[in-house]
Amino acid sequence: MRVVHTVAELRSHLKAFSRPALVPTMGNLHEGHLTLVRQAKPLGDVTVASIFVNRLQFAPHEDFDRYPRTLEADCAKLQASGCDVVFAPSEAELYPEPQGYKVSPPADLADLLEGHFRPGFFTGVCTVVLKLFHMVQPSAAVFGKKDYQQLMVIKRMVSQLALPIEIHGGETLRAHDGLALSSRNGYLSPSERTQAVQLSQALQNMAQSINTLQLTPAYLPALEANASQQLTQLGWQVDYLTVRLQQDLAPPLSLVSTPLVVLGAARLGKTRLIDNIEA
Ligand code: PAF
Repeated sequence: MRVVHTVAELRSHLKAFSRPALVPTMGNLHEGHLTLVRQAKPLGDVTVASIFVNRLQFAPHEDFDRYPRTLEADCAKLQASGCDVVFAPSEAELYPEPQGYKVSPPADLADLLEGHFRPGFFTGVCTVVLKLFHMVQPSAAVFGKKDYQQLMVIKRMVSQLALPIEIHGGETLRAHDGLALSSRNGYLSPSERTQAVQLSQALQNMAQSINTLQLTPAYLPALEANASQQLTQLGWQVDYLTVRLQQDLAPPLSLVSTPLVVLGAARLGKTRLIDNIEA
């Protein structure tokens, strides 16, 4: 496995290949990321993982400074997972000058849910992902479905900008108790870690209510409010728990034969977790 830090080294190494498959990450890798790498492997003739903590997608009060930088451990895990190239640029390499040109995704998809609670987040994500796409020039890229809205935003960017890249979604990996694997789980104290499964349980309960109680959309606000109230009583600060259409994340007008997704974001202590379950 080659570890490269500059665009010049990356391009020179990738010259020998015609179909790179890319897994963009911010590092601090867990088994969920490694599964994406294994998923990417058959999609190209060389598998590239990028590791870059992207300042542009963090608000000033968020965890950019404390986000764990664990390059050596990440590279060992990537090598064991069959990754061929790690692209780990410095900030000066990725943003050699202030990034004045940015990709601003459409409000109907990017200003709701995560975009509502983290204004500017998807602009930061799209801008860095487009730059990584230009640097790696992959024919396929894999993103985790745990960041459900991010995956949709990127799929639409690729489609609207006519980029010749196949975007694949990777299933969410869960711990034994059901907690979705996330780099941010490492911030949780032991007691918070025990409690953290309550988020996925809340989403499961909502999905089960929709599937078994034959609810109509008119009941959704009460279902969502009830679930939020229960999590709040358990000590969470809830941003949203909501039922949306899988196709565009709009609120559903019918719950019959419509693929739905239940999404949630909530803070336990200082840690903000997100999760979703397709219903
Ligand atoms: O999902 C992530 O880790 C990041 O948002 C991404 C896609 C690597 C862009 O920085």
